[in-house]
Amino acid sequence: MNAVTLHEAPLVRQDSMAPSKLRVRVQSVSYLAEDINAFEFVSVDSDTLPAFTPGSHIDVHLPQGLIRQYSLCNPSTERHRYVIAVLRDPLGRGGSVAMHDVLRAGQIVTVSAPRNHFALSNSATRHVFIAGGIGITPLMSMVAEVQRRGEAFHLHYCARTPQRTAFTGALCGLVASGLASIHYDNGDPGKGLDLKATLQSRPDGAHLYYCGPAGLMDAIEAASGHWPRDAVHCERFSASGSPARTKGDDPDTPFEVELARSKKRLTVHPGETIVDALKLHGIEVETSCCEGYCGTCMTRYLSGDPLHRDSVLDEDDREEFIMICCSRAKSASIVLDL
Ligand code: FES
Repeated sequence: MNAVTLHEAPLVRQDSMAPSKLRVRVQSVSYLAEDINAFEFVSVDSDTLPAFTPGSHIDVHLPQGLIRQYSLCNPSTERHRYVIAVLRDPLGRGGSVAMHDVLRAGQIVTVSAPRNHFALSNSATRHVFIAGGIGITPLMSMVAEVQRRGEAFHLHYCARTPQRTAFTGALCGLVASGLASIHYDNGDPGKGLDLKATLQSRPDGAHLYYCGPAGLMDAIEAASGHWPRDAVHCERFSASGSPARTKGDDPDTPFEVELARSKKRLTVHPGETIVDALKLHGIEVETSCCEGYCGTCMTRYLSGDPLHRDSVLDEDDREEFIMICCSRAKSASIVLDL
């Protein structure tokens, strides 16, 4: 049986007062599909975990010092557990292999409180979800929520083969009722879901949400270019194939960073990131992807004009925050809330 079931339960809100790090026990590890396992975490210190909203992810601190982000895939109405699903990728950066090969039921690990850069719209009258492979994870939680709200939706799930498709058991009712469709391409990106036809017209009030590998993300971005930007939401788990810095940015120029709380000032040179410069001055900050898509290094800025190069923050977020692993400053200096 799959670790995640879709069901109805009362709504809970994300807990902004939650501690930033939580001790959790691996309650179970279960097989979902070829190379995909679900990991269920429960709190060591309490009966409940901080509430989360659909689309949230947590950082998992792995025993070897790795920190990796995984989307929560269980319904956000559940307070007693967090569930993630992980694809073992031997060509990745080591996190998914460690999750599969090292993490066992009963172990205690540290996770962050949930963060959400991929929230559901409250004003949409219809939701269109497109998942590619393991990108289904945040969408499982979102689909559970729109079902609970009784809102119109359709889930398109793109996968290679049935053997490599997680959650088919949990989704079979939606597929049977025409609310979800699974598109297999057998490794040929030319087959499977016709994105152009799917996204050609936007139903009134519809919002689009998508998550998957970089190639699919770039293809959906291109096929949805005529949708209003505020009706399109995505979450990447790898850097875009067309990184933000190639979109007409000037070459790197040096700038000053002022740290408002520690009253320090430092220079970020061309070819260096703000995180690099902070480390050179003995200031450690938490990072993970270092490519602007995971959100771990998100930092508030107090003044200055950032040159955003991430793929996480929306226009509103960018008025307040900067991803210091990849973004720079257009102004001669920028003041960070550090
Ligand atoms: S470390 Fe991932 S966005 Fe900066």
